[in-house]
Amino acid sequence: MAHADIGLIGLGTMGGMLALNIADHGFTVAAVDASEGAADRLKASAGSLASSIRACASLADLVQSLTAPRSVLLLVPAGQAVDDLIGELIPLLDSGDTIIDAGNSNFRDTQRRCAAMRSDGVRFLGVGISGGAEGARFGPAMMAGGEADSWGRVAPIMTAISATYEGETCAAWLGPDGAGHFVKSVHNGIEYADMQMIAEVHAIMHDGLRIPRTQVSEIFHEWNQGPLASYLIEITAKISSTMDPETDRPILDVILDKAGQKGTGRWTLIEAQHLGANVSVIEAAVAARNMSAALPQRIRGAELFAGASGNWPEADLTSNDLEHALIAGKIICYAQGFDMLMKASEEFKWKLPLPGIAKLWRNGCIIRSGMLNDMANALESADQNNLCFAPSFANVLINSAPKLRQTVMAALQNGTPVPALSAALCYFDTLRSARTSANMIQAQRDFFGAHGFERTDRHGTFHGPWIPDDKAE
Ligand code: 6PG
Repeated sequence: MAHADIGLIGLGTMGGMLALNIADHGFTVAAVDASEGAADRLKASAGSLASSIRACASLADLVQSLTAPRSVLLLVPAGQAVDDLIGELIPLLDSGDTIIDAGNSNFRDTQRRCAAMRSDGVRFLGVGISGGAEGARFGPAMMAGGEADSWGRVAPIMTAISATYEGETCAAWLGPDGAGHFVKSVHNGIEYADMQMIAEVHAIMHDGLRIPRTQVSEIFHEWNQGPLASYLIEITAKISSTMDPETDRPILDVILDKAGQKGTGRWTLIEAQHLGANVSVIEAAVAARNMSAALPQRIRGAELFAGASGNWPEADLTSNDLEHALIAGKIICYAQGFDMLMKASEEFKWKLPLPGIAKLWRNGCIIRSGMLNDMANALESADQNNLCFAPSFANVLINSAPKLRQTVMAALQNGTPVPALSAALCYFDTLRSARTSANMIQAQRDFFGAHGFERTDRHGTFHGPWIPDDKAE
């Protein structure tokens, strides 16, 4: 009997939680998973929501369960699995039905799939979902891309299950084809950078300044009441004071310093290079994860070059200095992220709503924070679209950037690596340099390749005296 409002394929942690969330909002969801019995198990564990979940045995069963025009949500690992499922679904669906890929897909795959789907008459949406398992269950942020009217059709369900911020939904259509997945990828790049800067400041506090873990936790907790208030600071405060039940030691003491990654941060970097966007803080965060994984190399390096003592004189920095360093780093990192979004918007003609994206990130997603509300307002009027130039943030930077410098200098002096914080500082210093070292680059390019340069005193393209007149282009 066709009565379900939406189909959901893929009942891993995220898919299962999303199915429960959909059912919890009064919709009927038809669910299926490649693993036999998974849909039945979900239904059996759903308690009072079980009547809103139809456990399907096959894709055909799922499609037949849906009211037309059908909407089918995919929550499967990005890549080939999505293409395979689409291949199986297309013969079962009708023109006007919609497939929604809600995984962490690469936006270029989403662009390709949107284009391919047009000829079948089946519609395709690429929706980035953020918030982890808890978000999926109780309200994630959603970044949608594809045809606006396809989104309009599923929006009642998607907005009902998404997070809200002061009554405003954190789910929105952001542009055609890959726009949603692109924005999700940049979200993840920022997530990497935010996490890395917090980890660097944590290391300064605990390893450098030798502040006891409980006190570190209290400091993060305090910061979570101020300008840095955010989900990532909140969980950092909790993590810092958590004990390992097995050894009764602080959990951070027993966690190996080897970070994993599924690739979205790396994609952000790759696309930034295509766009000529400077996302140096994200770049530093991705590189730091790569280097964290090279543990044997680091152990060898520590033996050969003698690692930093890690014991700083306590008087070097106050927690207030570190809070301001993080504030400055965060503003700079987000300024880079939004600048990249603007460049992508121009390149792909997406008309991305930058303030709308900041609003959407205010709740539900991993990078949710109070500061994003101020960013949304600032982006409405930011000079040259750079968040650093918006008066409210420019004033904060004038006050906080010296603390970022003080922090980075202390870390460098003590041999403690702070790649993301120092990348933020370098970006800031470059942004405030009306004249940089690039005159030498231009001279060198012209010297060895006759590439020409512009002059400070007149218009045109010129060559240096190192190129004989008869060789100049
Ligand atoms: C989110 C997260 C999520 C991501 C994990 C792990 O927004 O909910 O970004 O999508 O998959 O956080 O990402 P990494 O394995 O790349 O760290």
